[in-house]
Amino acid sequence: MSQLSSKVPSTATAPHDVLVVGGGIIGLVTAWRSAQQGLRTAVVDPAPGRGAAQVAAGMLAAVTELHYGEETLLALNLASADRYPSFAEELTEASGEDLGYRSCGTLSVALDADDRAHLREVHALQQRAGLASEWLSGRECRRLEPMLAPGVRGGLRADDDHQIDPRRLAKALLIACERAGVTFHREWAARLSVIRDRAAGVALTDGTELTAGRTVLAGGSHTALLTGLPEEVAVPVRPVKGQVLRLRIPDAYAPFLQRTVRAVVRGSDVYLVPRENGELVVGATSEEQGYDTTVTAGGVYELLRDAHELIPGITELPLVETIAGLRPGSPDNAPLLGPTALPDLLLATGHHRNGVLLTPVTGDAMAQVLTTGELPEAARPFTPKRFGARQEQTV
Ligand code: GLY
Repeated sequence: MSQLSSKVPSTATAPHDVLVVGGGIIGLVTAWRSAQQGLRTAVVDPAPGRGAAQVAAGMLAAVTELHYGEETLLALNLASADRYPSFAEELTEASGEDLGYRSCGTLSVALDADDRAHLREVHALQQRAGLASEWLSGRECRRLEPMLAPGVRGGLRADDDHQIDPRRLAKALLIACERAGVTFHREWAARLSVIRDRAAGVALTDGTELTAGRTVLAGGSHTALLTGLPEEVAVPVRPVKGQVLRLRIPDAYAPFLQRTVRAVVRGSDVYLVPRENGELVVGATSEEQGYDTTVTAGGVYELLRDAHELIPGITELPLVETIAGLRPGSPDNAPLLGPTALPDLLLATGHHRNGVLLTPVTGDAMAQVLTTGELPEAARPFTPKRFGARQEQTV
């Protein structure tokens, strides 16, 4: 086929059983699991494997990211954290790629009396939720992590919060999908096709129409930009910008940190995630700026300022990368998983701060719903229909 004729829009592509719109880690895990079930699966994305996973630090932080009012989400987060070791083993086997899974634990610290009071409340919340975390004095924190600032006033040790390298995770999922026979359409999806009141696939920006038995929207924060969605399908997902830095720990400084260290400084989260390969990820801002991924001087300044208060020695390290990405925020900070009000249209998005953590359980839930029509028990609270119902109640 000539280059010219390959550009001619097609309207008669082979139908798929499942079309996944979005090739980030959530779209890829959905596609991989779908293909493993014997479903003919395709992914639509101009650059599969890219997206928020290229920015994320990869904390598997069910304990230290627990917030008030998010107990339902906690159950899903814990289920996915439990699932991670076997998921990582299976994906490594399927892809031949190491995922950088590291069961290193996390230390949340307080820098002043206000922070300490806040962290005490967090500890009480964790205890009420039955989570394992231990209160440490400032001295005990520094014994664990000697690079901590001398002024650290206390901390919480959470040995169950681990990490993975999201870039390796994305690469491995891409390979696993290819090996499982997933087809890739490297183009943007422009519009959902609805035929006889059912989702029927998508039209791409080059005019190609892709048809499918089921369409899964898994494009992170971009899911809300797809046109053609009927009014009854609410996709209340918005971009929440996060700026992140990557530093390098030279051999002479290793081991710089043994575990993830985090704090809330002046109301903003800051965390430092040390990888075995010498990378140190420092994150992250949380900004409501629409679809903007500009790295700003202010964002970098605030991250370095807060991280420096925690670990003064970071100013010695080479700064190798600054990057910004978009979390798919949802109104209750929890994902939207499974069927929508439109038959044959499903969602797998809205994972907000927990996309990397929730990857295993999302894959399991989407495989089950695609094969049986039913979400597993643990995923039912996250039906996208919860938002449709709320809107009706408020009318
Ligand atoms: N889970 C960390 C973040 O979203 O910044």
